[in-house]
Order: sequence, then structure tokens, then C-alpha cells
Amino acid sequence: DDKLRALLLERITDVFDHPNPGVVFKDIAPLLADPDAFGPLVDVLARFCTAVGADKVAGLEARGFILAAPVALRAGLGFVPIRKAGKLPGPTLTQRYDLEYGSAEVEIQRSAFAPGERVVVVDDVLATGGTVDAALGLLRRAGADVAGVAVLLELGFLAGRSRLATALGGAPLGAVLTI
Ligand code: PRP
Ligand code: MG
Repeated sequence: DDKLRALLLERITDVFDHPNPGVVFKDIAPLLADPDAFGPLVDVLARFCTAVGADKVAGLEARGFILAAPVALRAGLGFVPIRKAGKLPGPTLTQRYDLEYGSAEVEIQRSAFAPGERVVVVDDVLATGGTVDAALGLLRRAGADVAGVAVLLELGFLAGRSRLATALGGAPLGAVLTI
């Protein structure tokens, strides 16, 4: 509801020029430090996962892990990590992607899903959409169905949502906050 959204927004701090000049970093540490904000946020994201009929929740290293693991548990679903390259034991699938700042590779274990399992991707911030786009590619390559994407904060001006249209293939993208 509006009261929760106002509280969550209040607990996200703008940090200018981090990690690079010109970038406004959205710091969710104050939100995570407040159980009266973190708890209801987890509830909202878990309800999204239930509503779209998810079988599993995939979280994106690193900040996505913090949200996705409690969301999976709250929804009664299994958690799957999507990690930065080189961390997961093989066999793995790898996807390269561009970030708002820099570029990176993400990986998932080939054995993460049973064929056709419905998976929701959870992350903290949707900016350009590059990270989630790569994650959705990995899910499909791992044999899963995309049930949806849920983020805490969507940066609307970066148009991540339109970039993801193809990768979503009609699955819903839920943002608790949009700015
Ligand atoms: C940040 C954020 C999202 C992503 C959003 O992660 O947590 O995952 O960028 O950007 P995009 O929509 O333009 O891809 P980052 O890679 O900085 O690392 P972290 O989560 O490990 O802190
Ligand atoms: Mg991240």
C-alpha cells in the first residue's frame, strides 16, 4: 500500500557518484536494517511469487540474494542463486551482459531446474535491465519457464522494462517502487 511504499522510499538513500562519477547509487542498506520495512517488503514480493504460480525463486548476486532468499522461504519455494561468473561449481551456463557501469558475466548451474519449472527472478533494482535480461536468458537455457520478475525499485527513466519485453515473453514484471 501507499504507506509501505513511502516507508520503503524513505529507507533507500541516494549516493551520488558511486561507484563512478555521474551514477546515482540506490543504497538499500537503511531498508535492510529496518525490520519494519524489510519484513513487509519480503511479504509483498512473496505474494507476487505466489500470484504468478512460481515453483522457484532465482536471486541475483549480490544484492538480489538478500531479498530473494527470504522471499523464497516466505513463499514456501526453493531458492536458486544466479552468480557472478567463476563462483558456482560446474557444469554451469554463462551469460555476458552490460551494466549501467561496466560489464560482467552471470552463471547458473545447469541442474538448477526441472524442465518447465516456473521461476521468478528477484532483484533489488531494475536499471537498464541488462542484469535481468541475462538472468532470463540463463533461466530459459536451463530449461525453466519465466513466471515473472520482481524488483524492489524500477528506475523508469532507464527504460529497463521495454528492454525486457522480449525476454519476459508476456510474463509480468512487478516493481514495488517506480521512480
Ligand atoms: C546492480 C543492482 C542490479 C543491477 C541493475 O547490481 O543490484 O542487480 O545493478 O542494473 P541493470 O538493470 O542496469 O543491469 P550490481 O551489478 O551493481 O552488483 P551487486 O548486486 O553485486 O551489488
Ligand atoms: Mg545487483
